[in-house]
Amino acid sequence: PNGAAKSGKSRNIIEKLDESGKNCIIFYGSQTGTAEDYASRLAKEGHSRFGLSTMVADLEDYDYENLDQFPEDKLAVFVLATYGEGEPTDNAVEFYEFISAEDVSFSEGIQAEDKPLSHLKYVTFGLGNNTYEHYNSMVRNVDKALIRLGATRFGNAGEGDDGAGTMEEDFLAWKEPMWADVCEKMGLEEREAVYEPVFEITEKPDMDADEDEVYLGEPNKNHLEGNQKGPFNANNPFIAPIAESQELFTAKDRNCLHMEIDISGSNLSYTTGDHIAIWPTNAGREVDRFINILGLESKRHMVIGVKGLDPTAKVPFPAPTTYDAAIRYHMEICAPVSRQFVSTISAFAPTEDVKAEMAKLGGDKDYFHEKVIDRSLNIAQLLETLSNGQAWDKVPFSLMIEGLIKIQPRFYSISSSSLVQKDKISITAVVESSAKPNSPHILKGVTTNYLLALKQKQHGAAEPDPHGLNYALTGPRNKYDGIHVPVHVRHSNFKLPSDPTKPIIMVGPGTGVAPFRAFVQERASQARAGQAVGKTVLFFGCRRKEEDFLYENEWQQYEKDLGENFVLHVAFSRDGPKKVYVQHKIEEYAEELDKLLQQKAYFYVCGDAANMAREVNVLLAKIISKQRGVPESKAEDIVKAMRASNQYQEDVWS
Ligand code: 2AM
Repeated sequence: PNGAAKSGKSRNIIEKLDESGKNCIIFYGSQTGTAEDYASRLAKEGHSRFGLSTMVADLEDYDYENLDQFPEDKLAVFVLATYGEGEPTDNAVEFYEFISAEDVSFSEGIQAEDKPLSHLKYVTFGLGNNTYEHYNSMVRNVDKALIRLGATRFGNAGEGDDGAGTMEEDFLAWKEPMWADVCEKMGLEEREAVYEPVFEITEKPDMDADEDEVYLGEPNKNHLEGNQKGPFNANNPFIAPIAESQELFTAKDRNCLHMEIDISGSNLSYTTGDHIAIWPTNAGREVDRFINILGLESKRHMVIGVKGLDPTAKVPFPAPTTYDAAIRYHMEICAPVSRQFVSTISAFAPTEDVKAEMAKLGGDKDYFHEKVIDRSLNIAQLLETLSNGQAWDKVPFSLMIEGLIKIQPRFYSISSSSLVQKDKISITAVVESSAKPNSPHILKGVTTNYLLALKQKQHGAAEPDPHGLNYALTGPRNKYDGIHVPVHVRHSNFKLPSDPTKPIIMVGPGTGVAPFRAFVQERASQARAGQAVGKTVLFFGCRRKEEDFLYENEWQQYEKDLGENFVLHVAFSRDGPKKVYVQHKIEEYAEELDKLLQQKAYFYVCGDAANMAREVNVLLAKIISKQRGVPESKAEDIVKAMRASNQYQEDVWS
């Protein structure tokens, strides 16, 4: 637990509401920051438009046994993301287990049959992705549990779909009728909304940015004082040396990196199949753009204090700091822009014309898509385009902190085996850039380009910066020798069978091969140590044999170690006249594959969720149907059962 627990604050919601005089608490279960952002937007809107006295709350900061005492005249809002295979987000695990337990019991042992939550009025919105099996299951299950316990929902149980790319619009469409219902039931009236800052920014021109207590990107006090201390986790990254880095291939506008991150001495541990979180730094070019368009250039290194104007508001980064450091290390300035934020910010446009254009963008979904989303503009690029470069110096800095999410770590599937190298984590990442047809800007992945620049620096490049992105590569205050990156480890359920003699089948085109390089590396080392190892089948796909065939030489070594127990099938999609994908290879191999499945082989898929993983799922049912002579519907049930029993595992992303 962070925040409340650490500072010894109460975990009692009822007390907290009482003390702070709030009548609406907005809980979030967030993994990548979006749910948290929606929660704070609802908090602001509830206050400015409807006069609710709102607070935002991290689900992991409170206990829920006394939810039955939730006051009748107050409102609870749950903004809940579903993560991975229908799981709660890390910060919502405890709440979820509590509320959905069959035998949940509250103060004085009140049981579910007694409808303990009959006083509780609530609102829900879920964030999900329909390319995954368990679409929005978190919010659906919580809603069901609350109703079972007697609570009353206002508005619809909203659901946003990241898979269809409509999350923001789903949210905007859901919230208007929801507010109308809340107003009716709670007797509220809408009022003219005026912007009230959440944070107070105090400029300290007399202070020097070099002073010891000023944060220049350090994530917390231990880091500031130069002695980072564990446990290292999502609230406290480890600044890890990059032991080795190389490019596995370099093609036009596409590089693939292999890096070895040294975690020795950190007490961090991983097991094969886990993920590593990398904390990025924003590209200098985008930091400059952001600073310039807000008219902050002359004050960029000025020391600022940041304080919540309301005691329940959490400042998302440590202070005192500087504008430059806050923007570079803590604010997600390159994320897609939200339409609601555009509406809010329009009040501070430099001219009336720009303001009118902003209002149009904020109010017209299609126009917004054409002008902003389809061009992949970030906030500074948008503001710059609209005002023709004229500074937006009336925008309160607080509004920027409120409107942009805090920078998020990015997760990579670890491509090494913890048995083979327990203190070194390998990652395999493609650095891509994409240009949208109507956009003046080339979209650059924030983190992968940062890693590429680090790699180039490690190899002594005179200009570690091919795209002019101009990253700050030494980190705050040049505190660490050599090349470093802030990391932590996230444990996953994507695991080899504990018995190495069990057969496995892996499907991983592109960088989807990352965890399978770890799996095969592990089995090869077991074979070398004289252990019996089962059939190990890998389907890999790439564009061309000569271009992006990842780890080509290593596979040859593993073939030597594992003998005929290792089978590699490679699909080259752009070498021949017709596209060949892993699916084609799987079909060719259908008979053997089904035999292995009947011997309870584990089946793993890693990579693109939207197309590849879905298609493989469908194909597997077809193969089972054909090979076993059962109807397709029966085969689909077999595949579902394989998933439920963990015989079929996915590590996919979109
Ligand atoms: P393509 O880019 O030539 O279409 C790794 O990215 C490999 O996955 C590439 O060879 C790519 O082919 C291929 N790929 C693209 N879409 C796919 C899909 N739906 N299923 C399987 N492989 C796919």
